[in-house]
Amino acid sequence: KIKGVIFDLDGVIVDTAKFHFLAWKKLANDLGFDFTELQNEELKGVSRVRSLEKILEWGNTSLSEDEFIKKMAVKNDNYLSYITNLTSKDILPGVSRIIDFLTEENIPISLGSASKNARPILKKTGLIEKFHAIVDGNDVSKAKPDPEVFLIAAEKIGVAKENCLVFEDSVAGVQAANIAGMMSIGIGEKDVLHEADHVFSSFEEIEIDFIKKLLTT
Ligand code: BG6
Ligand code: MG
Repeated sequence: KIKGVIFDLDGVIVDTAKFHFLAWKKLANDLGFDFTELQNEELKGVSRVRSLEKILEWGNTSLSEDEFIKKMAVKNDNYLSYITNLTSKDILPGVSRIIDFLTEENIPISLGSASKNARPILKKTGLIEKFHAIVDGNDVSKAKPDPEVFLIAAEKIGVAKENCLVFEDSVAGVQAANIAGMMSIGIGEKDVLHEADHVFSSFEEIEIDFIKKLLTT
């Protein structure tokens, strides 16, 4: 029985995954190499530090500690420039309908994101008030697939892990939910997110009755 719901942010609530991709791609290109969209699946859900480590491995490149920190800052500035004009119009289709339904049913909602930019994004999109708890990249020390972020998110809303449902668009995030012992719903492609308990191509495909059942059985 589901008694609490945890949402990932990037690529689940807002379409910011594409901006992370563009900003990382630019960083790699500036260093003289490129990576594919398939490789980018491995960056989704992963922390900023871990993402840069992976990209440098792909390019067979290394940076001094100073350069590493500088590159992360440049990437983030670039990313922020893409999201300055984010509004409620950028909430992905079908998301608000599910959030409103959960709110009516008095189901606590928590955020479980790797991003350090989560709060400003929730503010810009007008969603911050809907969340009973927010756990983001500022609160955790271990990147997904480590379950830390979801375990804290569950604890903050006072719901046992086996009663939590996680919405995720990333492989690392689905794995984190599974390791945490929570139900996982993947938003994206079935063949990418095959480890999830259920996969939908978008929130628009999710029937309210399907969620209703999860809350009662
Ligand atoms: C995750 C994204 O939600 O947050 C990743 O899927 C991103 O692409 C990570 O790198 C960290 O985000 P930020 O905003 O702190 O750089
Ligand atoms: Mg995501």
